[in-house]
Amino acid sequence: MQGPVAIILAAGHGKRMKSEKAKVLHEVCGRPMIRYVVEAARGAGAKTIIVVVGYGADQVRSTFVDEPDIFFATQERQLGTGDAVRACRSLLEGYQGPVLVLVGDEPLIRPAPLADLLERRQADTASCLLGTAIVPDPTGFGRILRDSAGRFLKIVEQRDCSPEERAIREVNPSCYVFELPGLWDALDQLDTGNAQGEYYLTDAPQLLQAMGRRVVALPCLEPDDILGVNTRQHLAQAHAILQGRIQDTLMEEGVSIVDPRNTYIDGRASIGRDSVIYPFSVITGRVTVGVGCKVGPFAHLRDGTILDDGAEVGAFVEVNRSHLEAGAIARHLAYLGDAQVGRSANVGAGVITANYDGRAKHRTKIGESAFLGSGSILVAPVTIGEGAVVGAGAVVTRNHDVEPGQTVVGVPARPLPGSAD
Ligand code: UD1
Ligand code: CA
Repeated sequence: MQGPVAIILAAGHGKRMKSEKAKVLHEVCGRPMIRYVVEAARGAGAKTIIVVVGYGADQVRSTFVDEPDIFFATQERQLGTGDAVRACRSLLEGYQGPVLVLVGDEPLIRPAPLADLLERRQADTASCLLGTAIVPDPTGFGRILRDSAGRFLKIVEQRDCSPEERAIREVNPSCYVFELPGLWDALDQLDTGNAQGEYYLTDAPQLLQAMGRRVVALPCLEPDDILGVNTRQHLAQAHAILQGRIQDTLMEEGVSIVDPRNTYIDGRASIGRDSVIYPFSVITGRVTVGVGCKVGPFAHLRDGTILDDGAEVGAFVEVNRSHLEAGAIARHLAYLGDAQVGRSANVGAGVITANYDGRAKHRTKIGESAFLGSGSILVAPVTIGEGAVVGAGAVVTRNHDVEPGQTVVGVPARPLPGSAD
């Protein structure tokens, strides 16, 4: 195992989600929440990532394909977070070094503070560095207890707190850096003498300290970073915060978002400067928008879509896996799927590329400066030549390509006499 190692706990069911799906697979801004935790761990420098699976193990495993740095440990029964870490022991046999332990239900965690924790571990001899946060509302979190000199004493779970302890606002976000193999000694000593009758990972720091090892708690995390998703309400909150971060980054890079609250943009989208995103637009998946484009209002750009500079996609237009070259325009009520739209082509109101024949998807090629009249349907596979014109309401049937410069009209579309010469 190449270090640093990260362990991500993801075996729980998440009963309060009231779902058939494993909690960590619920999506935030279009991606399963565990995906963000994995990326934060990688971003912090983890070279090996062990995901602890249990409830819905197969679903969780299948979200990670061809990712050679990811391993899985199975926790047969969900006996607590401490037991979940113990499930990694055989995979980590012989490994000496730092292990970052995170939970899969905190999708807003960012790589920077985690990298910081790992770095400090190198400079420090502590066997446990605990990232903490000071939050306005500590409800639900384990509380950090310190002595009068401010030194870490222990973590107390909310259910096990006295009324005074409940008032503490420094909490445990479950971001730990432990030293291996030392951690195993502490995990061997866990017991279930707590309100939930579980093996708590939160007891490990205190146990290490009792063994004479150094434990340091550092308030290095922001309240927003540690939002834990336990309910559908939390999921919506996480979505709102993450969406805000995505849009802030885009605006900092020179993109105008007219009405941020009524716009949805996937974190994997890239948008060039001076592009304007009008209200009620939805951009999902890996979408690339060039410089000076207009999107919306009410546009839906889906995965794999590319808009080159100056392209425009307007009201009630859905674009899926399609490429609009520079200056191409689809202003109203269109569906473009698996299409290549040439430079400066004009896609009229109500144009549809019929890309699916019930069995397979097919491509539509529209040449430079082609003009597609209102309500025309292009049945794929088909090519519309450069500068060609498709009359309003025409149906261009499959493989009946329209020659460059030609005008076709009618159902099925046929050349207008004398158009292509
Ligand atoms: C845990 C912490 C708490 C902390 C909070 C938020 C413990 C005992 N408590 O509480 O101090 O403030 O997280 O970070 O650790 N899991 C397993 N196997 C299990 C149990 C849980 O893999 O047997 C996983 C869950 O899938 C989840 C994570 O561990 O991803 C945390 O479990 P959860 O039940 O949400 O813990 P909290 O009650 O939030
Ligand atoms: Ca939780």
